[in-house]
Amino acid sequence: MTNAVILGCGYVGRSLAPRWRQTMTVTATTTTLERLVELQTLADYAVVMKGNDLAAVRSLLHNQQVLLISVGAPNANAYEETYLHTAKTLVAALKSSSVQQVIYTGSYAVYGDRGGEWVDETTPVMPINPKAEILAETEQILLSAAHDSLKVCILRLGGIYGAGRELSKIFGRAAGSVRAGTGEEASNWIHIDDIVGAIAFAQQHNLSGIYNLVGTVPITTKELLDRVLTAHHLPLATWDGSQSSTRSYNARVSNQKLRDAGYKFIYPEIQETL
Ligand SMILES: NC(=O)c1ccc[n+]([C@@H]2O[C@H](COP(=O)([O-])OP(=O)(O)OC[C@H]3O[C@@H](n4cnc5c(N)ncnc54)[C@H](OP(=O)(O)O)[C@@H]3O)[C@@H](O)[C@H]2O)c1
Repeated sequence: MTNAVILGCGYVGRSLAPRWRQTMTVTATTTTLERLVELQTLADYAVVMKGNDLAAVRSLLHNQQVLLISVGAPNANAYEETYLHTAKTLVAALKSSSVQQVIYTGSYAVYGDRGGEWVDETTPVMPINPKAEILAETEQILLSAAHDSLKVCILRLGGIYGAGRELSKIFGRAAGSVRAGTGEEASNWIHIDDIVGAIAFAQQHNLSGIYNLVGTVPITTKELLDRVLTAHHLPLATWDGSQSSTRSYNARVSNQKLRDAGYKFIYPEIQETL
């Protein structure tokens, strides 16, 4: 049986764990002792550890073939430790490990502000803030670990929504509000079921390299808010074009590469009621 690790078993990890357990023995990690019992029910093995602990990482990877890195920083100050230090520690530990494939859930934030233009995996990254710079560097560090018998697959995720993270929860507070800007910037979203589907696909097909993991049809912030608020019978937001928008990732992100690889999206368009 193949052994797989989910390093950072939060929303994405705990959604994926049941799928992976159908075919693999799964070890999941948390940094929080209180979550150990929950993870013990979700995974075959559960470990409390941080990604920058080299001894713990070496022990975690022992006899494993597949590694998903789905760590998420609890706040902006923790970005460097959560992403960069974890990536550097992993690269050191992967040198002499049994792991054959690493899959990492990153973010399309690395593309930066493209004025609403389409971007794909050949578009150079252009991080526009320290968090996105850390995410871009993390990708490079992880990719540097790849060799003939170790595939590294970077998934650049859109904003995550789905069961437990419904769009109405994310945007409900915007009901009736006045928002800065025109709302015409593009945004890219990905449903949790497609995250699980695409990670499972990437593992089954031993994918390597960079893949955008966003829905097929980007949506402007205004249209998204209109659709979500209308679907939930809430007052619409209005836009004040005299104030500049705070959104910094204005790009239409293509998922064509992942579709060309054979992945079929469950939700190619945003589902405002989910
Ligand atoms: N949320 C979004 O909309 C979004 C958008 C684009 C991309 N992504 C990507 O998807 C990833 C996963 O998202 P998510 O929603 O599943 O995140 P999440 O629910 O916050 O889960 C993150 C997991 O990482 C663990 N963790 C935090 N710091 C760590 C460290 N230093 N070492 C090891 N583990 C650590 C957390 O531990 P605890 O169990 O102790 O909390 C938790 O299990 C994100 O990090 C991001 O790269 C997310």
